[in-house]
Amino acid sequence: MKFFIDTGDVAEIREAHSMGLVDGVTTNPSLIAKTGRKYKDVVVEICEIVNGPISAEVLSTTYDEMMGEAREWHKLHKNIVVKLPLIPDGLKAVRTCAQEGIHTNVTLCFSPNQALLAAKAGASYISPFIGRLDDISETGMELIEKIVTIYENYSYTTEVLVASVRNPTHVSDAAQLGADICTIPFPVMQQLIKHPLTDIGLKKFIDDSKKIPR
Ligand code: G3P
Repeated sequence: MKFFIDTGDVAEIREAHSMGLVDGVTTNPSLIAKTGRKYKDVVVEICEIVNGPISAEVLSTTYDEMMGEAREWHKLHKNIVVKLPLIPDGLKAVRTCAQEGIHTNVTLCFSPNQALLAAKAGASYISPFIGRLDDISETGMELIEKIVTIYENYSYTTEVLVASVRNPTHVSDAAQLGADICTIPFPVMQQLIKHPLTDIGLKKFIDDSKKIPR
């Protein structure tokens, strides 16, 4: 499974990248707003750090405006994937982008049928938001299982990008289901690394190492 990092914080991206944990990056307007920086400036800097797919979201909601933004993002860097919302005009934009060779990530997916539509329109990636489904007492991971099955049934090439990841269990469950990618916030990546037995074991090794004659 590929790991993307879900953030607009370039310091987090550099740190995770130095551990070999970053195959790509996803951003959204909420994440960029937290940085206090211009969206374009952040994305350009990310492209300099990571040589992989970098999702940058459109800020408009009509077909013409979204296509204008999509073409601008596409011109900026070869690795930029245009993130488009799962609405009718968004699907139209996905189709046109596919015809123009612009990679797309369809965001705000909450149902198997929405994922099916995105694949039919020609999306490169589908982003089901599992944490937000968990938040309303549904089971987000069941959506991943259904989408993986549907895409396998019809050999769609759209990659399943598990988003709205909130904890390490989301990551291991997504991997067991065969999702293509998990986009992970940096704090969750840090949680993935930690195990109390690792810390206890390391402390014992360090303590015992002091008893070794030098
Ligand atoms: O990539 C989408 C993701 O960032 C949404 O996460 O935690 O805001 O639901 P969250």
